[in-house]
Formats: sequence, C-alpha cells, structure tokens
Amino acid sequence: MSERVKVFAPASIANMGCGFDVMGFTLDEEGDILEMRRSEGDGISIVNETEIPLPEDIEKNVVTPVIRKFLDIIDKKAQIDVRILRKIYPGSGIGSSSASSSAAAYGMNALFGYPLSDEELVECAMEGENLASGGYHADNAAPALMGGIVLIRGYEPLDIIKLPVPGNFYCSVIHPEIVVSTKQAREILPDKVPLHDAIRQWGNVGGLVAGLYSGDIALVGRAMRDFVAEPCRKQFIPGFDELRCKLVDAGALAMNIAGSGPSVFALADRYSVAAKAGKIMKEHFGSRSIGYDVYVVKVSNNGAKILEEE
Ligand code: HSE
Repeated sequence: MSERVKVFAPASIANMGCGFDVMGFTLDEEGDILEMRRSEGDGISIVNETEIPLPEDIEKNVVTPVIRKFLDIIDKKAQIDVRILRKIYPGSGIGSSSASSSAAAYGMNALFGYPLSDEELVECAMEGENLASGGYHADNAAPALMGGIVLIRGYEPLDIIKLPVPGNFYCSVIHPEIVVSTKQAREILPDKVPLHDAIRQWGNVGGLVAGLYSGDIALVGRAMRDFVAEPCRKQFIPGFDELRCKLVDAGALAMNIAGSGPSVFALADRYSVAAKAGKIMKEHFGSRSIGYDVYVVKVSNNGAKILEEE
C-alpha cells in the first residue's frame, strides 16, 4: 500500500446531449491533480495550493464526503491529508467537482491497495457530486474515473458501460461568464416528460450508442439532440438556437449544453472544425459583452490515473 499518491482526474462533459444523467465523456489534458497522504489517525485535512478560490471549510469541499464514503465502505479509519495542486475553475461546465471527487476516490483506492471496483469508486465520487449539486448523478464522475465515453445504464445498482471513442473526435467548449448553478438548473426541470418527447429522446440515445459503435459520425451528430433538459435550460444561454445554427453551418456535428450549463459544447470530426467552432462561440458571446473561457480539445479515452506513488 502507498502512503502518498499524486493523482489526476480529467475534465468531463455530462449528458452528451440526449443522455441526461446517463452519458458523459472526458477531455484530454484538462483536469484536477491532488496529492493525498495516508497516516495513522482519524481525520481529513485539505490544503488548496492553487489560485482557484475554494471553500476553506472542509465540510464544503467535495473531496471530504468522497474520502468518508471510501473509508466507510472499507470499514477503516485513517488520517488523510490532501493538497489540491491543480483545479478546474468551479462552474466551468467541464466537471470541476467531479474531477476532484473522482481524483479523491481513485487516490484513496491507490492508498489502500485498490480494494474497490470502478462502480464502488463511482459511488464514492457521487457523494462529492451530491454535495456540489444536490443530486446523485454519475455522468461526470463515471467518465472522469474510467475515461472515454461512458453510459450509466442503471443507477440501482450502478451498471456502467464504456463506449467506443471515435479516433478523430474533437470538442469545443465555451464557458460564458453567466452564473447558473447545477442546483438551479436541476430545479427547473419537469417531473414528467411527455411521451412524444420521451420517444424522441430514447430514439436518440439508441442512435448515439449505435453511431459510436459503428463509427457513423453523422449518426452521432443527428442523435445528440436533447428533448428533455435543453428546452428548459436554454433560456439561461443568450442566443442558444442562433449559436447552434452557426456552429452546424460551420461543420460541427452538434451543439449542446455542457452538463447543466451555462457552458455549451460542439463536437467535430476534425480539429480545424472544432477550432472554427471555438472562434464562432467567442464571437457569439463577445458580441453580447459576455466574457468567456474556451477550450478546444480532443475527446479523450483516459480516465483517472496515478502520477506519482510512494
Ligand atoms: N447530468 C447533470 C445535469 C450534470 O445535467 O444536471 C450536472 O453537471
């Protein structure tokens, strides 16, 4: 068993369009890095070494409930000291809370000799997601742990399936400076979905999975449309429909809300199209005097990993 690990977990985009709460994928390069130390005792300390503002109260840090859940499952006590070395900006729409939660779950597993399965680690990471958003959803945490494009076929019990990632699959994401909390974006969702919309949605989820398995990228693009969450949430994103038209005209496969928003993402089968999509996104929000951060990255096949161990 290791006493110290440095662990990375990637950024991710939840929902992947039509897969509300059941699909997500990871992004190359972006992510969180934690250093975790295990010693005798019973407690948790967290030090934020980044410039990113995070709550000082450890009860408000997503890492804390993840560590507690892990120790609870393995029925052990330990002193765990965490240093946050790299952090995605919270609210950026690329799975900031799940990158920390998943890194913490993966790091704990390494510190204790890998006793838990992927599903159990996702369960631990979901405790962090619940603290951040008031809901137990795994569509950021499962990809952040396992990497690539992931389907959560069922939650009770967790049944998680890794889907194939097309070789040339790029993603542009823009985080406009608009504040929409995941809690707020979940609260506005309807309790019931009209049958007509449900039919269109499950047709799309099936089409998306089929497109990924057969490598039919055009089918992937056609199947991304979300008829459940997006119609309620797009009100938070100025000019949403207009932006989608511009991006699709420029060759993007699809544009959707990234997780609960306000970030949006576009997928493309060429880097040049993704880069152009990023430029269009910047112009769209820039012309409305809304600040932004843009990422243009390859869709990754890699999940959480240990960078150093001793
Ligand atoms: N599936 C969740 C939602 C992701 O859309 O609310 C939150 O990031």
